[in-house]
Amino acid sequence: MSFLIGENMTGGYGATNILNDCNISVEKGEIAVIVGPNGAGKSTAMKAIFGMLNLREGRVLFNDEDITALNPQDRVRKGMGFVPQTHNVFPTMTVEENLEMGAFIREDDFRHTMEQVYDLFPILKQKRRQPAGELSGGQRQQVAVGRALMTQPQVLMLDEPTAGVSPIVMDELFDRIIDVAHTGIAILMVEQNAKQALNIADKGYVLVQGTNAYTDTGEALLANPEVRRTFLGG
Ligand SMILES: Nc1ncnc2c1ncn2[C@@H]1O[C@H](COP(=O)(O)OP(=O)(O)OP(=O)(O)O)[C@@H](O)[C@H]1O
Ligand SMILES: [Mg+2]
Repeated sequence: MSFLIGENMTGGYGATNILNDCNISVEKGEIAVIVGPNGAGKSTAMKAIFGMLNLREGRVLFNDEDITALNPQDRVRKGMGFVPQTHNVFPTMTVEENLEMGAFIREDDFRHTMEQVYDLFPILKQKRRQPAGELSGGQRQQVAVGRALMTQPQVLMLDEPTAGVSPIVMDELFDRIIDVAHTGIAILMVEQNAKQALNIADKGYVLVQGTNAYTDTGEALLANPEVRRTFLGG
């Protein structure tokens, strides 16, 4: 059984279902990427897996446990970290305060983890006393990822971590995400930069109208002419 599974997920906002029998899973140390058109339900799938959306049908399994009934905070305690698509840093707080906020559930000494985040993103150490809102887009995304790492998650969920950053900054962020995966953490990521993301993905999901359209290795999806033509711009 996979490490994290969103199984047969159906649900949405109000009476409308956005997700329709959607299946997503990721293994330890693996990078799984969700791509698909705007409004396909990618963020909704992430919210459902993190417990921010009640499912009408289906369940979420993590580490051999059914966590469908748990709220997000309890999922963090179980080992899940989530970086939402928007509002993922506290702009008026310093970089270091953002990281401290990330450690909110921890009662032990988290300074070592903060040093690990600074090792991963050295620029954040330099800017640790600066308000996060004054940083560049790419640096803010580093703060958001760093904040999520402060609870030492076993799975890291990222909703469009490279939104609005330059291609060079995107490549750098992807390299750091690969570094994180190599430590054994499972990565589940939504990406608008679909080709580049599938290029580093062990597994990819093309989501259309809340349903799985294609599921395969990143490599196979990139090689699939139908997927290329319809979703990857040729
Ligand atoms: N809080 C909400 N209340 C009502 N409808 C919502 C809400 N959030 C999203 N939706 C709707 O649900 C559908 C899926 O939205 P979602 O944000 O999951 O798509 P997405 O694939 O992440 O899109 P994008 O690529 O633009 O981020 C859209 O039609 C959207 O308008
Ligand atoms: Mg989204």
